[in-house]
Amino acid sequence: MVTRTALAVSDDIGEVLRKDIERSLFPPHLELVPQLNELYEVKLAFYESQLLNDDGIVRQGAYFARVGDRSTRHFLMCRGEPLRLAGHSSSRLKAFFRTNQFKTGYATHGLFPYRGKFHPQMVKAILNIMGLKPGETVLDPMMGSGTTLIEATLMGIDSIGVDASPFCQFMAQAKLDGLSVPLNSVDWAAKHAELVFDYFARKSGHPQGRSARGKTRQLSLNWSKDKDARSNGDRTLARHLDNPKAHNYLRLAYLDSAGYSIRSQRRTPLEQFRAILERYAFVARKTQGVLEGVESELGTATPLEGDARALPLQDARVDGILFSPPYSFAIDYIANDAFHLRTMGVDLVSLKDGMIGLRGRALKEKYEHYIADMRLVLAECARVLRPKRFCTIVVGTNNNQLAKIFDTDPQEVRSMSELLVDLAGEFGMKLTREIERQITGMANTMRSEHIIVLRRD
Ligand SMILES: C[S@@+](CC[C@H](N)C(=O)[O-])C[C@H]1O[C@@H](n2cnc3c(N)ncnc32)[C@H](O)[C@@H]1O
Repeated sequence: MVTRTALAVSDDIGEVLRKDIERSLFPPHLELVPQLNELYEVKLAFYESQLLNDDGIVRQGAYFARVGDRSTRHFLMCRGEPLRLAGHSSSRLKAFFRTNQFKTGYATHGLFPYRGKFHPQMVKAILNIMGLKPGETVLDPMMGSGTTLIEATLMGIDSIGVDASPFCQFMAQAKLDGLSVPLNSVDWAAKHAELVFDYFARKSGHPQGRSARGKTRQLSLNWSKDKDARSNGDRTLARHLDNPKAHNYLRLAYLDSAGYSIRSQRRTPLEQFRAILERYAFVARKTQGVLEGVESELGTATPLEGDARALPLQDARVDGILFSPPYSFAIDYIANDAFHLRTMGVDLVSLKDGMIGLRGRALKEKYEHYIADMRLVLAECARVLRPKRFCTIVVGTNNNQLAKIFDTDPQEVRSMSELLVDLAGEFGMKLTREIERQITGMANTMRSEHIIVLRRD
């Protein structure tokens, strides 16, 4: 027989379990996006639901699939077939894009595997919680592959991006161009991959290729067999490439495939290019399909080559700032992009002098340069940001590396996020909210990163 006390406990449990956590946090007409499974996402979703009205969530929310019976633009952008990968791609890569369909592979974000790039869905939410509205301007002073600019454009927010690397300026522009590149040019190129490959290989140089048997081989093209076909093809190609957006987009596809050829060597460069071009064509078609009819609502993006320590902007020019600094001294962006930078005629030695995180020799010296450089960057951010607006920094924890420099325990060191908050405070930017996020990406050595939201006095 059940005692009265046992019954009371059971009633209490029943009452607690009937509570729906989602319904406690969000109003009933908001449906969360699929695959939302991390605490930082719930936090960002909560702030979005508090700060945006229903129309705002439909137009620019990151973590909701539906508002009542209306699907959000984010949901429509991500649903359907995820980023199309080549048949020979590893099952790990395919699984990554499937499980991150609503986080990372949508629009042109999934193109080009730039190391340390943002989760675009997170960027969207951060732009929302910084209160950025269509027509305002956000700055990313270290834009890398241009995630902030692409996301801002989709949300109707104007954006300015700066990066020391000319390759980043090109890559960001090309990914933005993909939002409106003429589809007939990309489709034509996909059908004539060999001709397009030959054109860019002549202009940019061949990546090291390997035959399927693993032996290095010189790529041979058979165009000489049919000169007429080639010159007809060349003329059509020239016509398509006259459009700067088509030129940039196809050139990025070439450089993307060259990077794969250098890293994996499992396929010949031409085979890689064919597969990647198919992906680029798929992405442009899918993205433009969703944007059809709302093209006039897109923001304007300006990616620039420049130095975050001396921004080419007037005082109080921007309404918000979002960036992630180079992961301290963990990633050598020049070594990673050496082939691409060389094809652009960039002098790698002088570029290195301007790259934060790469200056100095021993770890200690690198660290000192890094802190001095980041102080200059934060001073510039405070200068160009309107008063009372927000600057958000996403920074990885590298306590193990810092512990080596200071010969101490990783638990004891002052983490990079704390150091940046201190530096920002020197220029009147105060911490408003900090959110920690575990890093789940494939090739990351960092275990977590911090989203630091600062407010300018
Ligand atoms: C972590 S990455 C940014 C990635 C970016 N958030 C994205 O989504 O692709 C840091 C960037 O800082 C850039 N950088 C390094 N030194 C710089 C400087 N002095 N001025 C501007 N950008 C710099 C690097 O080229 C690199 O692209």
